[in-house]
Amino acid sequence: MKKMGDDILILGIESSCDETAASVVKNGREILSNTIYSQIDLHTLYGGVVPEIASRKHIEKVNQVVEQSLAEAGVTLNDIDGIAVTYGPGLVGALLVGVSFAKAISFASNVPLVGVHHIEGHISANYIENKELQPPFMCLVASGGHSHLVLVKDYGEYEIIARTRDDAAGEAFDKVARAIGLGYPGGPKIDKISKEGNPDAIVFPRGKVEGSDYDFSFSGLKSAVLNYLNGCRMKGEEFSQADVAASFQKAVIEVLVEHSLKATKEHGIEQFAIAGGVASNSSLRAAFEAECERQKIKFYHPSPKLCTDNAAMIASAGYYEYIKGYRSGYDLNAVPNLQIGEKQGVFIP
Ligand code: KG4
Ligand code: ZN
Repeated sequence: MKKMGDDILILGIESSCDETAASVVKNGREILSNTIYSQIDLHTLYGGVVPEIASRKHIEKVNQVVEQSLAEAGVTLNDIDGIAVTYGPGLVGALLVGVSFAKAISFASNVPLVGVHHIEGHISANYIENKELQPPFMCLVASGGHSHLVLVKDYGEYEIIARTRDDAAGEAFDKVARAIGLGYPGGPKIDKISKEGNPDAIVFPRGKVEGSDYDFSFSGLKSAVLNYLNGCRMKGEEFSQADVAASFQKAVIEVLVEHSLKATKEHGIEQFAIAGGVASNSSLRAAFEAECERQKIKFYHPSPKLCTDNAAMIASAGYYEYIKGYRSGYDLNAVPNLQIGEKQGVFIP
């Protein structure tokens, strides 16, 4: 029986896309283990994530990943206070594997179940390495499926300030990478090759959205890159992969920085964080670092390993829900288009 003041251990499980992950986190902020089985090599053959292959691989790996995570943390399920699992948004078949597995071990061990929103997990990755970070703060979540500016008003309390009107930032990275022949996954490859290119070689448009100062749009930029490449082909000219990558990346980063920090200032917030796969981009981190310093905004970011999909971030978000008394029932289902702040569980006073 746990006593007041004892440590709280949360087991996190994540399977929303192409990573099967489990992690044990103490008191929401201290990683005891962080196990990730990445399927990237498998999907690279197809140029992107194949949902059915992802689900099948999750079901094959989930037991092993969870067992390894518990072993590395030096604990058993008996020591765990809550099982946090991603139940949306994501690929439905992939989510169902993690949710079913979490329900089964929760039922068998009588450890409470806490359903977690994947994006709320990405945001919470910031708590792990920044022990002093507390809400309120503004957070840019830029991943393969999302580009949101979220005001974190309190633990587990979110307000969406802006979103993309079309492609997510990571999606634009992936599509442009494919178009210039870099392959999948695009983000890290563009990040790397951009270091050899001239970011001012080609001036690509900075996406603006009519009637909104903060919303994002990346489809115009993507089309501009495709048009540029077509133009080169029609003229029989070679294009420089590095220059296109660097110029595209600069256009994305400029918009993300400008909109994010404008929203932060205009909401009277003094702390800003980044999250999601795109947040591991080295030039993006440098740009935010410099601009936040100039504007006297405190800047937080997770290390690259905690930016991309992992289960430590799910355990951290789950911890803050758990201590508030939020619990999910055994009717928890996968919700592929789960909205930020939407919940399926109940609060136990
Ligand atoms: O958060 P994440 O791992 O999965 C989703 O929830 O979507 O994000 C994956 C996305 C991909 O689009 C990938 O290309 C992008 O993050 N990404 C990057 C970098 N590393 C991953 N984009 C730009 N630069 C990077 N270094
Ligand atoms: Zn993600």
